[in-house]
Amino acid sequence: MAAAPERESKESKSPEELLCAAAESGDEEAVVRLLAEGADATHFDSAGLTPLMHAAGGGHSSIARLLLEAGAPWNALSPSGLCAGDITSDPTTYDLLLDHALRSELLLSTVARRQAPAANASEGAPAENYLESRVSFSEERVMDAESKAVMMAWERPLMEAHARAVCPGSGYKVLNIGFGMGLVDEAIQRYEPEEHTIVEAHPDVYARMLKLGWGEKKNVRIVFGRWQDVMPQLGSYDGIFFDTYGEYYEDMREFHQHLPKLLKPGGIYSYFNGLCGDNAFFHSVYCQLVALELANLGYSTQFIPLPVKDCLAADVWEGVKQKYWQLDTYYLPVCQSESESE
Ligand SMILES: C[S@@+](CC[C@H](N)C(=O)[O-])C[C@H]1O[C@@H](n2cnc3c(N)ncnc32)[C@H](O)[C@@H]1O
Repeated sequence: MAAAPERESKESKSPEELLCAAAESGDEEAVVRLLAEGADATHFDSAGLTPLMHAAGGGHSSIARLLLEAGAPWNALSPSGLCAGDITSDPTTYDLLLDHALRSELLLSTVARRQAPAANASEGAPAENYLESRVSFSEERVMDAESKAVMMAWERPLMEAHARAVCPGSGYKVLNIGFGMGLVDEAIQRYEPEEHTIVEAHPDVYARMLKLGWGEKKNVRIVFGRWQDVMPQLGSYDGIFFDTYGEYYEDMREFHQHLPKLLKPGGIYSYFNGLCGDNAFFHSVYCQLVALELANLGYSTQFIPLPVKDCLAADVWEGVKQKYWQLDTYYLPVCQSESESE
């Protein structure tokens, strides 16, 4: 008699509710059976969680595998913006999800235009016609016409670290793509490069560079235009930094195809690593993805962890439409030809 209420409540639950419960409790047999009977692995329960999130939360890696094989989306988000990879604290489940996410993104090439972001500072879809619209400048930020931040002063320590990474010392040739607030360029100048080329495409930013005197610096060469259009005007460099705005991940990928020509043997390449800066797991996926793609071109990438929590004062995002960075650690990429990094 005691079992009856449980049976009744089981019978009144949908297969998907049962699947979530089985995934949460680690009941692998029930998960196998429910999936075989057609329970939907993509279901969101009343709390906005998927069976995969429940399995991840419980650290049930073999169940997570079954659910992924049944089509559970690795990138579904809970109401608080977390995916299964963010939820799990089990290393095996985390690695499984990361591996699955990477393979999905590589195979399906879903990375670019749909959900992903920009290879630049801005989160979400790039501003429409950014290069044709006005930008505004203050001490603290450069803003586009949609009140999204093109560049913000809190990034100064990161830009200084990027400059250090791409400037092997004085007397070298350095290329920076995207002037913004000139933070990385100010830092590069301190290393006294023999030649410091800056590519900038926005007419307002370009005008401001000239106003600030960048056109008169002896070792600086400004190339006005989109990097895509001015490539024939560029040479080869000991250090290259890439940080544009209003572009997609695919654009950065395209830029990487030029590295073998742009980067001298022994040279260092780095880029602003803001991909999916509002979600830790997505960010890891993109770090790995870029590293894999660079590896296919013969470059090895090291990520240097830099704590950034202290850079982000409480009021830093006031008046900014999208918080493009919400993580505590920034992973500064340092890329070098594989033969040299050995
Ligand atoms: C995020 S800001 C760069 C910030 C810079 N690293 C700094 O330290 O201040 C991006 C810059 O790239 C420029 N930009 C956008 N698309 C570009 C393109 N295709 N070619 C060259 N510059 C571009 C933008 O106008 C903007 O000035």
